[in-house]
Amino acid sequence: MDVSPPLGLLAELTHRCPLHCPYCSNPVELTARDAELSTQDWRAVLSQARELGVLQVHLSGGEPLARPDLPELVTHASGLGCYVNLVTSGLGLTAARLDDLAARGLAHVQLSAQGATRARADLLAGAKAFDRKLAAAAVVKASGLPLTLNVVLHRQNHDQLAGIIELAEQMGADRLELANTQYYGWALRNRAALMPTREQLAAAEPVVRAAVARLRGTMEIVYVVADYYEPFPKPCMHGWGARQLTVAPDGTVLPCPAASAISTLSLSNVRDTPLAEIWYGSESFNAYRGEEWMREPCRTCDRRTLDFGGCRCQAFLLTGDAAAADPVCSRSPHRDVVDLVLAAPGPPEMVMRR
Ligand code: SF4
Ligand code: FES
Repeated sequence: MDVSPPLGLLAELTHRCPLHCPYCSNPVELTARDAELSTQDWRAVLSQARELGVLQVHLSGGEPLARPDLPELVTHASGLGCYVNLVTSGLGLTAARLDDLAARGLAHVQLSAQGATRARADLLAGAKAFDRKLAAAAVVKASGLPLTLNVVLHRQNHDQLAGIIELAEQMGADRLELANTQYYGWALRNRAALMPTREQLAAAEPVVRAAVARLRGTMEIVYVVADYYEPFPKPCMHGWGARQLTVAPDGTVLPCPAASAISTLSLSNVRDTPLAEIWYGSESFNAYRGEEWMREPCRTCDRRTLDFGGCRCQAFLLTGDAAAADPVCSRSPHRDVVDLVLAAPGPPEMVMRR
């Protein structure tokens, strides 16, 4: 089959992070600092990614500011002609550091927030983070860079939705991503405590709709639905190995950020194999490309070109088979797994990310 070049690279520079969010989608087992790629390795990854066609580089983590070589990597990526986005908790983002990164070609900042009030946000971050995020947002606005605020929604903060939108306005965010939790990595452990109720989701809908209308032209709002409650799955990654690749802190190259969870997948590493070879020729990237891998009901389904059979990671995590239809799908023989989760009221306790 014809494979197009990737558009985006998610470069997970480190798994180290000052926050302890219970909804973290990074793997349960994190990469240790001494196993991280070196500066030279990352420079090579960025160069190879650009040669491959990548135009957007998302420097992420963990907290990418924990890497002392972040400025050098920003210079390198922007020098290659890439649009460089920093995905950050905001902790440690001073005016001096940001101005330096902007001078080196940083184009955009995506800041996370956990709630609308100091008490709730700090509780959910497991750290005194709220005031520091307000300060970080002010620093980004002062720099003139565009700011996206990303808030992961779940049962423990859905009631603050209106306040979260106000917070984004107060910060002067250009874009607000309201993303219901996706249950991968650490978040899957906390699924029972994080799953929003049907009532919460119903209450959110008019709040988001009104805000989208009121803020049109000022702030773009993106709302990512809680897919367990949907009749059809999300078109995850716009298809497997179709548009973006992820490089994990230790150099493992992933077709999607959660793919290390698929234990049946043989993953390649940039330490051993060139990125282009991995993108076009590796077993992992070719495993679920196109439609050949599909079984019924996806194989003959009229929606397969819309959702590509849903999410491979979710299929694996919920059924043990990454080639199954996403069990969120109402046509999947495994939909009962999802319905059981929704029917079981969860305990409110969350295990914070350690
Ligand atoms: Fe998508 Fe497969 Fe469900 Fe059809 S059966 S809607 S292709 S997940
Ligand atoms: Fe991996 Fe959806 S998160 S394919």
